[in-house]
Amino acid sequence: MRYQGIIFDLDGVICSTDEYHYQAWKALSDRLGIPFDRERNNLLRGVSRMESLSIILEKSEKTYTAEEKAAFTDEKNELYRKLLCQMSTADLSAEVRATLEALRGRGLKLAIGSSSRNTPFILERIGLADFFDAVADGNCITHSKPHPEVFLKAADMISLSPSHCLVVEDAHAGVEAACAGGFDCAAMGDAREDARARWHLNTFADLLTIAE
Ligand code: BG6
Ligand code: MG
Repeated sequence: MRYQGIIFDLDGVICSTDEYHYQAWKALSDRLGIPFDRERNNLLRGVSRMESLSIILEKSEKTYTAEEKAAFTDEKNELYRKLLCQMSTADLSAEVRATLEALRGRGLKLAIGSSSRNTPFILERIGLADFFDAVADGNCITHSKPHPEVFLKAADMISLSPSHCLVVEDAHAGVEAACAGGFDCAAMGDAREDARARWHLNTFADLLTIAE
């Protein structure tokens, strides 16, 4: 087999939380009088909560203290968590579920490598809390993507070297992180055309051909 393990980004790969991130950041931006739209929301893909706020504040005429910024990210996250409560096992597509099960059936180790500190909550909502062999997320890293830390941590947790793992990503920052860590990357969604990725997925189930 080409790979022994696969490390999946969560948001935008295993499930879609885009709309909830957008709504929560939009509510905060509106309150602060800062322009924010779906195009700018795309820039936040894969980057940490605080770095996302920094990108949003680039359009602000005011400057804010570190305390104010911490309060803003808390405010956004509180709303985001409320929105996430709408998620259920129905938010895990039949295609993703069947593909994950088939990959597991081939003996591949499967892990999560996500910048999100809400990873455990989201996995629980979609019914995958106990599915993965390892979960590396925003709670256990000091450097967010495009730094490779979260993928290196995930590979370490499943006792595989980067050269034996494939990373699946939908964010340019994530593709960059995978390459920086020495991983092959399969890009999908927003980052599908990213030239740094070895594979370009039309659909999640394409992984079944790549990981043969
Ligand atoms: C990534 C998302 O998975 O997690 C980003 O693509 C998000 O948009 C980041 O900012 C951090 O998420 P959270 O849930 O910790 O605020
Ligand atoms: Mg993502």
